[in-house]
Amino acid sequence: MEFIISRYNPETDTAPHDRHYRLHQQELDGGTMLLDALLKLREQDPTLAFRSSCQEGVCGSDGMNVNGQNCLSCITPLASLKSPIVIKPLPGLPIIKDLIVDMTLFYKHYAEAQPFLQAKPPSEAHEHLQTPAERAQLDGLYECVLCACCTTSCPSFWWNPDQFLGPAALMAAQRFVIDSRDIQTRERLQSLDDPMKTFRCRHIQNCTAACPKGLNPSRAIQALKASIAKEH
Ligand code: SF4
Ligand code: SF4
Ligand code: FES
Repeated sequence: MEFIISRYNPETDTAPHDRHYRLHQQELDGGTMLLDALLKLREQDPTLAFRSSCQEGVCGSDGMNVNGQNCLSCITPLASLKSPIVIKPLPGLPIIKDLIVDMTLFYKHYAEAQPFLQAKPPSEAHEHLQTPAERAQLDGLYECVLCACCTTSCPSFWWNPDQFLGPAALMAAQRFVIDSRDIQTRERLQSLDDPMKTFRCRHIQNCTAACPKGLNPSRAIQALKASIAKEH
């Protein structure tokens, strides 16, 4: 297997450059995911930098661009990738080193979406209650692992990174807008009623195609925009 990996060390390089690596199938010790291969390559070359933690598609830390598609390396089967496997950092965010990007802006936009419940003080008798149908509304929205694969595949984010909140943050906003327990719905919608923050989404759908968790941020943004429009 051949790998072409983008390398960048801010202390010594002026720009990212490609480095070629090779790995024999037997060196993988039965590992079948791209992350297994990267961990083996790092044994060959300990200077290779990338993030990973859970190795199960849950922590969202190993987002990267592989053969032109954003993905989580730990749940991307090697067998699904054409060789040479070209690996780059997620596009549209500053590179810290090799495949590690600076997620500060991504988290700033996420925080702006106020991704937490704002409900009446809970009664002493019971928790905040929801019917099964109200709870079901949150399916497909709450499972996001904040990997940034969607936001960094979005042309509207590339062109307006400081202003457009991006699909992950907007989907998080929608998750709380439709939560039956939340009492700040109107204020949330008013704060998102903005041509750059929200309406910069052109429904190109790159985000949905990129989501390794099979979520549909584009659909969530469409629903969010419709709720904002109803407030007018
Ligand atoms: S649907 Fe909207 S958020 Fe998703 S990639 Fe397209 S412009 Fe970006
Ligand atoms: S919506 Fe999907 S691609 Fe976007 S951050 Fe969440 S899990 Fe990652
Ligand atoms: S290592 Fe946690 S999602 Fe891949």
